[in-house]
Amino acid sequence: MKVANRLRGLEQSALGAMTVRCQELGALNLAQGLSLVPPPASLLAEGARDFQHVGHSYSRPEGLAVFREAVSDKVKRRTGLSVEPATQVLATVGATGALMATLTALLDPGDGIILFEPFYGNYLPSLRMLDLRPEPVRLAGPDFAITEEPLRAAVGGRTRAMILCSPNNPSGHRLTAAELEIVSAVAEEHDLLVISDEVYEDIYFGPAPHLAAATVGNLKERTVTLGSLGKSFSVPGWRLGYAYGPEPLISAIRIAADALVVCAPAPLQELGARALNLGEDYYRDLRAMYDRKRRTLAEGFAAAGLSPNEPEGSYYLYVDCSRMGVPTGVEAAELLLASSLVGTVPGEAFHLTAPDRPYVRACFSLPDDVIAEAVSRLVRGV
Ligand SMILES: Cc1ncc(COP(=O)(O)O)c(C=O)c1O
Repeated sequence: MKVANRLRGLEQSALGAMTVRCQELGALNLAQGLSLVPPPASLLAEGARDFQHVGHSYSRPEGLAVFREAVSDKVKRRTGLSVEPATQVLATVGATGALMATLTALLDPGDGIILFEPFYGNYLPSLRMLDLRPEPVRLAGPDFAITEEPLRAAVGGRTRAMILCSPNNPSGHRLTAAELEIVSAVAEEHDLLVISDEVYEDIYFGPAPHLAAATVGNLKERTVTLGSLGKSFSVPGWRLGYAYGPEPLISAIRIAADALVVCAPAPLQELGARALNLGEDYYRDLRAMYDRKRRTLAEGFAAAGLSPNEPEGSYYLYVDCSRMGVPTGVEAAELLLASSLVGTVPGEAFHLTAPDRPYVRACFSLPDDVIAEAVSRLVRGV
């Protein structure tokens, strides 16, 4: 039986391949962003107690009111933005479901979408499924900030949208107001849709709070923001996320989401609403935990003679492996695997064009003992 052309070349991602290699070799898997830290204890206890009492049928396509209200409240607390729960918020099957529904609802086959390199690798198959055209803009390390000229140069006659990701996977960069002003000006000039992936909004380091794209310039009018409970509450398997934005866009996305998946998991929306309402202490502890983990793992890479970045957010290190003397991230990841039994993702997985240095990405959303073992293997191995 014929398989659709759009699947060509998508058989196995670099990340999937590394996970299989890690299993074969008994290596530590720092490749996949698995969120292997415990979810909030109160959430699990209440979930276990109340699961039989929550609704188990479908929710409406836009999600349960209690969930959308909790999203709206959190958006208000975090960003000061007022989003109407009834019309501007949608519960989705993870941020991935929100992205697929957004692309399906608002773009046509052949439309171009700006992707800033390095980008979250899953954007590519999502675009491919819908015959959308990635248009890469290379950002330069070590800070990977957006600048005006390369962005302007990339916008062409078919460009209809761009995807932002802040805090960024894999670079750890957080977009500043100045960068978002540039994005706002270019998006307005070319009437572009902006999709802002903010799934790591709660995982950042340093005193400055998360800056939502929709709060800057005129971006609010043209931005669909994606969120995920998977990252903030370490429950990626719940497949629960959300999108918020202007009413006409959310209304169209709701129709696409309904056609794609009917609704997000309804019983988990009830529990998810409680998670979204957790107090600021929870988020402070989450950040402190990740700050500790990132420092420990970074010390391991540095002790091994490599150059980890200092991420401003997300739960990944982006490590410059130039000192290994190999030209590509693919070779660096192979060497790390062979010499230290530590699995990472080559930087090439986050690029359409070749990265200028041999980068690998390492996830630190892992238990402390796994990170300690990774550090000891790195120090002994490389
Ligand atoms: C930047 C980014 N966006 C989206 C996702 C997917 O989120 P979800 O599991 O909610 O679909 C991930 C997961 O790793 C991610 O890193």
